[in-house]
Amino acid sequence: MKNLVVLTGAGISAESGVQTFRAADGLWEDHRIEDVATPEAFRRNPELVHRFYNARRAKLRDVKPNDAHLALARLEKDWLGAFLLITQNVDDLHERAGSHQLVHMHGELLKIFCEVCEKRQKHADDLGLGDSCPNCHSKRMRPDIVWFGEMPYHMEMIYDALAKADVFISIGTSGLVYPAAGFSKLASRAHRIEVNLQGTSVSPSFHEHRLGRASEEVPSLVTELLQKN
Ligand code: APR
Repeated sequence: MKNLVVLTGAGISAESGVQTFRAADGLWEDHRIEDVATPEAFRRNPELVHRFYNARRAKLRDVKPNDAHLALARLEKDWLGAFLLITQNVDDLHERAGSHQLVHMHGELLKIFCEVCEKRQKHADDLGLGDSCPNCHSKRMRPDIVWFGEMPYHMEMIYDALAKADVFISIGTSGLVYPAAGFSKLASRAHRIEVNLQGTSVSPSFHEHRLGRASEEVPSLVTELLQKN
């Protein structure tokens, strides 16, 4: 039985209508990372940062999983060996598609975090400076998002899974942000497959490339993998 690790990025949610980061119409065209996605930005202008994430959280109500998310849930259900889905995405489309063996290494839009007592909780509505922590009543609540300069979540489990992976699949990520950009090298004994609309800066470290839309390439790749299962 083979160990399978899948990494997803913004490209898998693009066809659901969630903006990617680095496309010409991506999020980082309209917003500067240093204004909205760093701990310093939150200290400097928390209202702006809350507004940015409130808009993204609200947008989740209008989108739904696409065929690529659904195919990965099918893969998890029918795969006979160990399976781990690592997503850099902060949306909840993998969960809604039915994935369970899933870690959000960059956090989740639908969770908030108290900087004082460090308790996390689910939160589907807007978050603002007036909101207090239900646990310790401080007013230092933030989106549970891993900002630039912060340590991504679940790294020990991720490194362990990558070292043991027989198959590693990377879907819809530009390979520009570390540590995720280094995962293909860490999955050194795996057969490595990249799914993307185009070549990326990490394409040379993959054995196989599926060029095309995730909603088409992922379902056919999943069918092939399950046939060889
Ligand atoms: N099908 C397949 N690939 C796609 C599709 C699609 N329909 N649409 C876009 N892509 C690809 C693009 O070609 C690009 O390589 O998805 C990738 C998206 O890249 P980015 O916008 O850089 O997103 P991502 O790699 O997830 O960003 C990584 O950077 O800003 C941070 O924390 C943020 O998690 C994010 C991290």
